[in-house]
Amino acid sequence: MNKTAIIYSFNTKKTRKVAELIKEAFDSDMVEMVNAEEINESLFMSFDQIIMGVATWFDGELPNFWDEFVPALEDLDLSGKKIALYGLGDQKGYPENFLDGVGLMANILEKRSANLIGFTSVEGYEFESSQAKRGNQFAGLAIDYENQASMSKGRIDAWVKSLKQEFD
Ligand SMILES: Cc1cc2nc3c(=O)[nH]c(=O)nc-3n(C[C@H](O)[C@H](O)[C@H](O)COP(=O)(O)O)c2cc1C
Repeated sequence: MNKTAIIYSFNTKKTRKVAELIKEAFDSDMVEMVNAEEINESLFMSFDQIIMGVATWFDGELPNFWDEFVPALEDLDLSGKKIALYGLGDQKGYPENFLDGVGLMANILEKRSANLIGFTSVEGYEFESSQAKRGNQFAGLAIDYENQASMSKGRIDAWVKSLKQEFD
């Protein structure tokens, strides 16, 4: 299997926790942890397989550090890149914007021809609307520590199992 990057902010708490659980679920030496706050085009492009941690902040917005990288992303040709998104959100606190960050990022990546993988079912979540929703799936993994913390580990393990079949 090729080396996979997990790109997430090292300064977050919950997003970082999920990154560590994802790394554990993979064979750890196949996965490289990369700080989203220090990402640049050449580092991003050096990986063929990328997992991105994208929480939703500010009522349906991307975290600042991802927002700052969006102009660079919009100039990249991502064809051939396999990218899987995981998001953190709060379905009870923000039912109209649940996991929107994943949807915003998915839209940007798809416009640049990335091969998005790792979609998951919306079953088991309660919310009103989400930009991450595609039919009856989210465009990535949805983790909600505020309301469904105990389900997180199982969701992460199942997701990694499915990613292992898609990654080279
Ligand atoms: C000010 C604020 C705004 C938020 N807005 C949203 C939102 O619009 N949609 C959502 O699903 N979650 C929202 N959340 C919940 C966070 O995404 C959730 O707490 C997540 O676990 C944060 O992860 P992090 O601490 O690793 O960044 C918000 C949280 C805060 C504090």
